[in-house]
Amino acid sequence: MKYVMEQPVKLGVIGCGRVFRGPYLSLIQPLRTRGLVGDIVACDSNPAVGGVVAGEPGVAAFTTDHREVLDDPEVDVVLVLTSMPEHGSIAKDALLAGKHVLVEKPMAITLPEAAELVELARTSAGHLVCAPFVILSPTFQAMWRHVTAGDIGRPTLARGRYGWAGPDWGPWFYQAGGGPLFDLGVYNVTALTGLLGPVRRVSAFAGRVHPQRVVDGQLIDVETEDNFQILLDFDNSVFATVTTGFSMQKYRSPALEIYGTEGTIQMLGDDWAPEGHELWQNSEGAWKLYGSPNPSWPWTSGLEHLIESIAAGTRPLVTPEHAYHVLDIMLNAIESGRDGTHHLVESTFAPLSFADGDPGEAAHRVHDRTHAS
Ligand SMILES: NC(=O)c1ccc[n+]([C@@H]2O[C@H](COP(=O)([O-])OP(=O)(O)OC[C@H]3O[C@@H](n4cnc5c(N)ncnc54)[C@H](O)[C@@H]3O)[C@@H](O)[C@H]2O)c1
Repeated sequence: MKYVMEQPVKLGVIGCGRVFRGPYLSLIQPLRTRGLVGDIVACDSNPAVGGVVAGEPGVAAFTTDHREVLDDPEVDVVLVLTSMPEHGSIAKDALLAGKHVLVEKPMAITLPEAAELVELARTSAGHLVCAPFVILSPTFQAMWRHVTAGDIGRPTLARGRYGWAGPDWGPWFYQAGGGPLFDLGVYNVTALTGLLGPVRRVSAFAGRVHPQRVVDGQLIDVETEDNFQILLDFDNSVFATVTTGFSMQKYRSPALEIYGTEGTIQMLGDDWAPEGHELWQNSEGAWKLYGSPNPSWPWTSGLEHLIESIAAGTRPLVTPEHAYHVLDIMLNAIESGRDGTHHLVESTFAPLSFADGDPGEAAHRVHDRTHAS
């Protein structure tokens, strides 16, 4: 599908740390070349960042006050790329200012904050898209089609994992509102619920492997759990595990495995950087290996999807309700790890829907149908 923008969108970026200066800028520059993105107003509460981002192509202004970005009537799209505890309140301000908003994960660190965002997104002028954007990857969508078509029979069990040794920057990763579940496990929970639907019950073991860490050159106390084994109950005898932590060094296992009554499907690589998938069907009696349809798919692609949705006048596939449900699961998992009991998850979200054909095209055909009704 071709997109005709009347004029490039002006971006406001709040939080210009590693993730903006690396992965997001790598996506934004080609979008500028394509005429989809124009100027960028950069904001970071650390004034020293101003000098660092000043030379980046497209960065037209810098401020330390995010309200200046929101007060700029020409800013169309706001990216909230701060540390996690700030996400909820800044995303709320941006929606109230009538902007389209992309917020990094998690959308907020408490359910009341997240509920406000979901409610605001229903009435505000702008779309709200919440990372992670794993459901946009062509490999995820190919797997979703297999699962939905019944190619592995009825799903029964599933597994997701994502972890590493943990960042040596940003003390907030290890303080209240941080931790590996919000930072890493969130990808698996989003992908598994995307494939299997809403979770009804959660149970978890959570612990702390490293009581102290050297972060930004300083020895700090680790306040959050850094090691999780989580059980998800999807009802109807469908169960999954999520393994996540700042406690893993390396792995060579699939990111996701879904077992069904007639076969198995697994995602190679990580769910934020898929390397294809493998499908076993009893009827075929063999593994089939599918390469990634787009090996350079970037995990930042929610921004491109948001801008394309604005241009096409369609609703983004990534919904605030799904992000809210994922946060609900994660908060219940953390509580379960602390109190040792199962927790019921009350929220839900509408199952994903991708039309047949190429994932990018499919996304927009679904939108077209939504608009026609
Ligand atoms: N680093 C990664 O690999 C990675 C990957 C995916 C997603 N993310 C997510 O991206 C976000 C940013 O991560 P990062 O690694 O870039 O962190 P970072 O610590 O490098 O950058 C965060 C920046 O936000 C700024 N900031 C904090 N509060 C602010 C406020 N109120 N107003 C303006 N600026 C403020 C900080 O000064 C800092 O420069 C996090 O939500 C993280 O979960 C990070």
